[in-house]
Amino acid sequence: MHLAQLRLFAFRGHQDLRLELGPGLTVIHGPNGQGKTTLLEGIAVLALTQSPLAGSLADCLAWGAPAMRLSAAVAGRRGPVAVDLRCDRTEAGPVRLRRRYRVDGHPTAARAVLGRLRVVCFWPDDLGLVKGPAGGRRRLLDVAISQSDPGYAEAGVRYRRALEQRNAALRQARDGGPPLAYQAWDGALLDSGASLIAARADFVAALAPLAQAALREVGETGALGLAYRPALAGADARAAPPADRAEARERLADGLLRGGPADRARAQTLVGPHRDEVEMTLDGRPARAFASQGQQRSIVLAVKVAEVRHHREASGEEPVLLLDDVLSELDPERQGALLRILAGEGPALQTLLTVAGEGPHVPSGARHLRMDGGRVRPGTGAAQAPP
Ligand SMILES: Nc1ncnc2c1ncn2[C@@H]1O[C@H](COP(=O)(O)OP(=O)(O)OP(=O)(O)O)[C@@H](O)[C@H]1O
Ligand SMILES: [Mg+2]
Repeated sequence: MHLAQLRLFAFRGHQDLRLELGPGLTVIHGPNGQGKTTLLEGIAVLALTQSPLAGSLADCLAWGAPAMRLSAAVAGRRGPVAVDLRCDRTEAGPVRLRRRYRVDGHPTAARAVLGRLRVVCFWPDDLGLVKGPAGGRRRLLDVAISQSDPGYAEAGVRYRRALEQRNAALRQARDGGPPLAYQAWDGALLDSGASLIAARADFVAALAPLAQAALREVGETGALGLAYRPALAGADARAAPPADRAEARERLADGLLRGGPADRARAQTLVGPHRDEVEMTLDGRPARAFASQGQQRSIVLAVKVAEVRHHREASGEEPVLLLDDVLSELDPERQGALLRILAGEGPALQTLLTVAGEGPHVPSGARHLRMDGGRVRPGTGAAQAPP
């Protein structure tokens, strides 16, 4: 699939941005602070129903605006689809939004939007994925899986709700409330949690060989290991992935039961998918501790390329690849490897790549857009000149 048209209205600094886009590589360049990242963020919001960059979608409402609107025309295998999100500010005071989604003009729930536009995002912060906190690696799973499995996103919402309630009951128990009332939430936690764990196990098992192959293309010789390590066995202990949902449920139930005393002592739930880990190893050793800075970046590149290929394998369609300012963060060898791999993915893969200033050399044949003062016009092509 690819994004054919995009409109961002009162979305951060974009008052009314309209773009026509095509498959292949589009390079968006221009000075700092002109809304290049915001453009990719808008696309991600339409695909994911939340911003991968902002804590709250309310941050994206243009300052002082009463409403924002994002629309995309997506060209896919099953014909064109129009996805539209309108957010109205609900009241004075802290900004809160009322969201309304439409697909082909019909009002719809957020979960029905997921999968209409599939994206793989690569933000500069992702380069810290190997070394950073486990939350970043869990987010990678959540973003990828929720776009291909709408039930996953729904299970995630139910899980978070049950977890919040259970933790609140654990805090009440600590403060003299009923000591075992938190167990009332175990059933909801188990049902939703088992779905998350089973889907994550399947996803990582499918991603691992793709990432291993991509690492070689990036120019790294070591063997990359990706392994899902669900938090089923108490505080900070991570276990082997379960074979299926039934096993996930059984082991999570056991973990919650055994973890009861520790949960009560800490007044929070220490077992479950909110504490899962994705273990990354290079030649069998933990990459976060032993891989060099450059090797860690290669691993991230490989994982992102694997994500693109996984979407294609799983859905038979190309996702849209959003690369924000990533080239400037890579050394020339890795820049070259990434561009070579992109070229090898074929012309159907739509890639939107932002670069600050004129940017590094990118292959001729790419389309250039220049963003300046919130306006977009065809690029000068200066960045196409051979180095
Ligand atoms: N809610 C908002 N309302 C209006 N403007 C906003 C809002 N949030 C951010 N901005 C503006 O958007 C600008 C940032 O845009 P963006 O990050 O997309 O720029 P960029 O072109 O990617 O810059 P760089 O090259 O530095 O990465 C900021 O300068 C800020 O003034
Ligand atoms: Mg930027």
